[in-house]
Amino acid sequence: MAESTPSLGVAVIGYAFMGKAHSHAWRNVGAFFDTPAIEQKVLVGRDGARAAAAAKRYGWQESATDWRKIIERDDVHIIDVCAPGVMHAEIAIAALAAGKHVIVEKPMATSVEDAERMQEAFAAASARGQHAIVNFNYRRVPAVALAKKLIEDGRIGELRHVRASYLQDWLTDPNTPMSWRLRKDEAGSGALGDLGSHLVDLVTHLTAESITDLSGGLRTFITERPTGDSGDGSIKGSGGSGPLETVTVDDSAWAHGTLSGGGLLQLEVSRFALGRKNEMTIALYGERGSLLFNLENLNEVWFFDGQNDSQEQGFRRILVTESDHPYVGKWWPDGHIIGWEHAFVHQFAEFLTSIADGTPSSPSFAEGLRVQQVLQSIEDSAAADSRTVTVPA
Ligand SMILES: NC(=O)c1ccc[n+]([C@@H]2O[C@H](COP(=O)([O-])OP(=O)(O)OC[C@H]3O[C@@H](n4cnc5c(N)ncnc54)[C@H](O)[C@@H]3O)[C@@H](O)[C@H]2O)c1
Repeated sequence: MAESTPSLGVAVIGYAFMGKAHSHAWRNVGAFFDTPAIEQKVLVGRDGARAAAAAKRYGWQESATDWRKIIERDDVHIIDVCAPGVMHAEIAIAALAAGKHVIVEKPMATSVEDAERMQEAFAAASARGQHAIVNFNYRRVPAVALAKKLIEDGRIGELRHVRASYLQDWLTDPNTPMSWRLRKDEAGSGALGDLGSHLVDLVTHLTAESITDLSGGLRTFITERPTGDSGDGSIKGSGGSGPLETVTVDDSAWAHGTLSGGGLLQLEVSRFALGRKNEMTIALYGERGSLLFNLENLNEVWFFDGQNDSQEQGFRRILVTESDHPYVGKWWPDGHIIGWEHAFVHQFAEFLTSIADGTPSSPSFAEGLRVQQVLQSIEDSAAADSRTVTVPA
């Protein structure tokens, strides 16, 4: 970047789990990638003392409690929304109207209607040169990006089956307390939106196909939970002893569907898969080859070359740590693994580069809206005894 390019001021809204991960990425992106300079201006949270402590620790110049004042500031150019889902639409629409570039965490919104309003706001802002993305960060894991390239190069061919699952177990303990993640009015849905949104995005991103129809189901295994300290920065919280509150979202969800190319899709998400901490897997089986990815081993992707008919054929482990692999060359010498947090750095590097170059940013709000439509279709099917529904085009 030219020395004279003014730096972009960033404000992050929410200082807990994602606020911390995003702070880490903002602090490091310019050190490793050739992107426009940024300044970590303000970290915003409801609790002033906690926001101030987090701001100091994570390298922010200031902290604040009122995001409305922050989006009006001339020295803030990027609003990065790390607050619960129900707040995404209000903040993103206001920030776009105030002329800011916007990042929202996934899922984009808590309803299709809100996602549509956000997309409309972005369409107007885009005409003014603004950028907006939904942070489906797993696209930016190098092994996933390499898988995408292998698919684009035709190594998989026509897809027959895609199986994707995202399994956690933090709700198996009935004393895990209520939190915003378990209230429909704050989160939109449970495992479906939280984990399923990542899967739907990854499947459609990797395959460049849409999901045309599906049947799905939802299950809430524990319908009441104690209120209590749900923690700030910890998903699980530290245990609840207050009065019971009704859980209004799903604990687990599934869908069987069809891809626009004719392949079959299976999705499964759960917060009740005992022993699975944060296991996201995706398997793609095509006419020419197959690919497997598991987030627990995120530096590798497994490839089966169906064109190789030698006796030694089998799934081959590709260690995605070479400097000519996506993103990797910006980090360490060949062969040195990287981690979960790096995907956020890569996503922000992509975002800053599109702002500088004036090229479209991704994952776009239009893509986020399509994910929201698939999630809604799964809910619609579940409400109709899992009958097959057509996903809006
Ligand atoms: N990309 C990923 O892999 C990933 C992982 C986890 C969560 N998320 C998403 O990130 C978002 C935030 O989740 P989280 O896990 O960080 O939640 P969290 O509970 O850890 O943090 C939420 C933050 O929002 C803040 N907040 C709430 N209301 C606010 C208000 N009115 N003004 C300012 N701040 C407010 C809270 O103070 C807190 O700092 C959600 O959309 C979630 O789905 C994404």
